[in-house]
Amino acid sequence: MTISDSVQDPIYPVAERLTGKHKANVQSMAEYQSMWESSVNNTNEFFGKLGRELLSWSKPFETVQHGSFYEGDVAWFLEGELNACYNCVDRHALATPNNIAIIHEGDEPENVRRITYRELLQDVCRLANVLKSMDVRKGDNIAIYMPMVPEAVVAMLACARVGAVHSVVFAGFSSDSLRDRVIDCGARVVLTADEGRRGGKNIATKRIVDEAIKGTTTVEHVLVYRRTGSEVPWTKNRDLWWHDEMAKARPYCPVTAMSSEDPLFLLYTSGSTGTPKGVVHTTAGYLLGAASTVKYIFDYQPGDIHACMADIGWITGHTYIVYGPLALGATTVLFESTPTYPDPSRFWKMVQKHKVTQFYTAPTAIRALRRLGDKWLADSDLSSLRVIGSVGEPINPEAWDWYNTQVGKGKCAVVDTYWQTETGSIIISPLPGATKTKPGSATFPFFGIKAVILDPQTGAELKGNDVTGVLAISQPWPSMARTVYNNHHRYLDTYLNPYKGFYFTGDGASRDKNGYIWIRGRVDDVINVSGHRLSTAEIESALIHHESVAEAAVVGGQDDLTGQCIHAFATLKPNVDVSEGLERELSLQVRKVIGPFATPKRIYVVSDLPKTRSGKIMRRILRKIVNGEHDQLGDISTLADPS
Ligand code: WTA
Repeated sequence: MTISDSVQDPIYPVAERLTGKHKANVQSMAEYQSMWESSVNNTNEFFGKLGRELLSWSKPFETVQHGSFYEGDVAWFLEGELNACYNCVDRHALATPNNIAIIHEGDEPENVRRITYRELLQDVCRLANVLKSMDVRKGDNIAIYMPMVPEAVVAMLACARVGAVHSVVFAGFSSDSLRDRVIDCGARVVLTADEGRRGGKNIATKRIVDEAIKGTTTVEHVLVYRRTGSEVPWTKNRDLWWHDEMAKARPYCPVTAMSSEDPLFLLYTSGSTGTPKGVVHTTAGYLLGAASTVKYIFDYQPGDIHACMADIGWITGHTYIVYGPLALGATTVLFESTPTYPDPSRFWKMVQKHKVTQFYTAPTAIRALRRLGDKWLADSDLSSLRVIGSVGEPINPEAWDWYNTQVGKGKCAVVDTYWQTETGSIIISPLPGATKTKPGSATFPFFGIKAVILDPQTGAELKGNDVTGVLAISQPWPSMARTVYNNHHRYLDTYLNPYKGFYFTGDGASRDKNGYIWIRGRVDDVINVSGHRLSTAEIESALIHHESVAEAAVVGGQDDLTGQCIHAFATLKPNVDVSEGLERELSLQVRKVIGPFATPKRIYVVSDLPKTRSGKIMRRILRKIVNGEHDQLGDISTLADPS
């Protein structure tokens, strides 16, 4: 029996709100295809034109693309000079000063701040002058550990203005994690707040910073934004109040011209081994990727209200709250709260209140809200929405359907966007006005992306349709990461050496019989919990730091809500007995070393771990056990003790 296409994977046509009177930025599959062809075949011409159209340059580039995956020396828009802050703020403040740049939806729904481009420019300039007064110069690294307040965006842009490289650390990371990141990049200044505020609770942000910078040697100043006004510990001369310094600063600061390839920011992310990597993004290519994907994948039109629900501590927040929307002069929504505070109607009331046109969140949030019931959407008018996006993990068809019918009312484009910290911007996604969608498929590559599927063993490209393997990219694109901070070797070994001539994503993927791409999840030791990327090695190392633990092994289990969840196995040191509360203690240990979002779902204290005869832990077996596949343990003949 052959199952027809329509039963196996239903295809949804281009949505109603993207057709008819609405003129989408790309309006048909034929238009997409011809643009894509020219983007990968006439790359210099295509991206040269796009670069001139979307970005403002203080000095024009002459060479569009340079370098290769073989050499690991990819560069774009050489000879060009520009400033990311100028592109995101000044040019709009000059043209449309009263347009709203940022809508801040505070933790309490009634706390809304609207900031115009004119105001944003003044704030950014003042902070840039404050940074200069601290002797921050082009190329210095600055750590930002802040809650979701507009000042966090101001902080990023002020760094960009003076040519400093920001390293935003997600404010859910523990002091230990923050310390590692501050040390790795040698940050001279940390920008933070007294406290954070989320879901009605205060978070001791400044205390975490104090704890983190104990024992570091590079931090000269901590600039503290007053968010809640609570008492916080203070170190004289080192700590400065944001409002005091801003009041002293001039409201204009000239921009520092940057070369296209000067770094714009570092962002630490987890890989399959050891310590997090400081992924380096450069100015021009990154900004072009950010701006062009907002234009084409979110179908940005002047006047749109773009709402990305990510945290600025992750790449999604960098690209789709800050750089992408602001580069286009859009209004971007910054959301401080949680999807369920004060109740699960929060997102939808917010969409109605601000007349949001693009809404972007993660499958975990969609699944959680779906579970809480449709009644929470009943009272909200969602008719302003046009494009609704999903990011961070594979979206299951049930969640996709719910998002499409309950949120999009069957009239919006659903874009399942696939990308990574390292890719800088979305690389595989439908285009709202062009692509027919299949729930669960990220569909087709964006402009400039030559996505290929490789045989994981041989590295041979699997051409044609109906193939499964690992996902790789076969030619450079503008917003790809250029290096790992202070460790170019690691960059090469992780991304460019596994399959020579390709960028390796670390994800498995299939291309179905219609040429649609389906992301199958990580093929390395990275697990994805609620869209948060975690390394099993990092969690293991956190556990091993506990005095009772001899060995630890961490694997990903399946979870209906969070996609994957963490299962941790630990053996104890000789002469240590299993004490009451030990599992809780180990769980706290992980929270302390990494952060609450890395808390294992289950911890098993065991007497032994499955190992090969040469002593390697066989995580494959543990993975099968936690996922209830005992009958499929596979070949266990290499186990030292199969029992
Ligand atoms: C996963 C987040 C399936 C993938 C932007 C990738 C996805 C990792 C999708 C990167 C998607 C992201 N469908 N899987 N639409 N989007 N992923 O660096 O495994 O935090 O490698 O970047 O998330 O996570 P990162």
